[in-house]
Amino acid sequence: MDSAKIKQDFPLLQQNIMYLDNAATTQKPQVVVDALTKFYTHSNANVHRGIYALAEQATQLYEDARAEVAQFIGAQANELIFTKGTTESINFVATAWGNDYLNEGDEIIISTMDHHSNIIPWQQVAKRKGAVIKAIPLYRDGTLQMDQVPHLINKKTKIIAVSHISNVLGIHNDVHALRDYARQVGALFLIDAAQSVAHQAVDVKELDCDFLAFSGHKMLGPTGIGGLYIKKDLHDLIQPYQFGGGMIAQASEYSATWLKAPQKFEAGTPPIAQAVGLCAAVRYIKNNINFDALRQHEAALCARLIDGLQDLKQIKIMGPIEQLKEKGHLVSFVVDGHHAHDIAAYVGQQGICVRAGQHCAQPLACFLQVEAMVRVSFYAYNSTEEVDALIATLHKLLA
Ligand SMILES: Cc1ncc(COP(=O)(O)O)c(C=O)c1O
Repeated sequence: MDSAKIKQDFPLLQQNIMYLDNAATTQKPQVVVDALTKFYTHSNANVHRGIYALAEQATQLYEDARAEVAQFIGAQANELIFTKGTTESINFVATAWGNDYLNEGDEIIISTMDHHSNIIPWQQVAKRKGAVIKAIPLYRDGTLQMDQVPHLINKKTKIIAVSHISNVLGIHNDVHALRDYARQVGALFLIDAAQSVAHQAVDVKELDCDFLAFSGHKMLGPTGIGGLYIKKDLHDLIQPYQFGGGMIAQASEYSATWLKAPQKFEAGTPPIAQAVGLCAAVRYIKNNINFDALRQHEAALCARLIDGLQDLKQIKIMGPIEQLKEKGHLVSFVVDGHHAHDIAAYVGQQGICVRAGQHCAQPLACFLQVEAMVRVSFYAYNSTEEVDALIATLHKLLA
C-alpha cells in the first residue's frame, strides 16, 4: 500500500501533523471536501419535495448516494437508512424495534467490550420494557468468551447486538458464530460496524445480520451522517423511529400512514450534502484502497509499534497482541506511573495525535482495571515513519 501517495489526497495531512486517531474519526480526502462544496455551490435544494429541476437534481444525488453506499455494504438501496451515525442507528433499533418487540423478562445480549453506543440504548429500552441485559464476558486478553454464549441464550433472547471490531482493543469478533447463536433461538442480530466498514469488506448479505450500524466520519466521510442497514423482511414490522415530514403517505389531524422504506424511516430533512460527501468517500475507498493491502499495512504498523514499545518496561499493551499483529488497526496501552492523558498531551506537543481515556467503553476499562488508556489507531495514509516517531518520543520520555 502506497501510504505516501494516499496521504497526498488529504489536505489536512499536508500540515506538520501525525494523525494517529483514526478510530475516533478519519481525515477527509480532497474529493470529499470538493463534493460538499460542489453540492452547496451548484445543487443545493431539499429532497423529495420540489418539482423544479434543482430539487430533482438534489434528490437524484441523494438517492444515488444511498444506492452507492448501500452497494458498498452489500445492501439494496431501500435497506439503507441514513442516520447521524452509529449512535443514532443503534438508538433507532433499540427504540423503534425495542419499544414494540421487547416485553417484560425478554433478554438482550451485548458484550462487556462494547462501546457505550451499543450498551446505553439497550439499558434504556430494557428499563422501559422490563427486559434484561446480559453481557458476554471476556477472557483476560479482552476477547469474547464465545463458549459462554450458549449458556446466555435461550427462548427469551430477543436480540444479540455486538461490535464487529472493538474500538479499544482492536479485537475482531466472530460475528458469524454470534449470528448462528441468534438464529438458534430466533433472536435478531445487530452488528456495530463503526470500526469495520473502513477497514475491511463488509457484506450484510454474507453476514446475514438484521441490522448493521456505521458512521460516515470514520470512513473518510463527513460528520453528521452514517447508516443503518435494516433487512428488508423487517421493514413492515418496524415502526418509524421519528415522525414528521418526508415519511407520510397520508395524514389527517388525527392519524397518518407511512411511505415505504427508506422514506418511512427518514423523517425530516435528511443530511443531504453529507450523503453526497459520504458517497464521495465510498468512491475514494473503492478507487484507492484495496482491503487486503490495507489489512496488511495496518497490521504491520501495529506490529512495528508493539515491537518498538516492548523494551519500555512501563508500557503494557492491552488486548491480544498476536491478533493485533495479524489484523489489527489500533493498539491501546497503559504506562505505569503516567496518566494516559499526560502521555497523549506529551506526544501531542510533538505533533502526534493519539487518543487517551476510556474510549466510551467504561465497562471494558473497568474489566481491564485501568483508569485510562492511550490508543493509537491507523488508516491507509499512516506510515512506518510516524510509528517510529511515536516510539522515539515515548523512549525519550520513558527510557
Ligand atoms: C465501536 C463503536 N461503536 C460506536 C461508536 C459511535 O460512533 P458515533 O460517535 O459516530 O456515533 C464508535 C465511535 O467511536 C465506535 O468505535
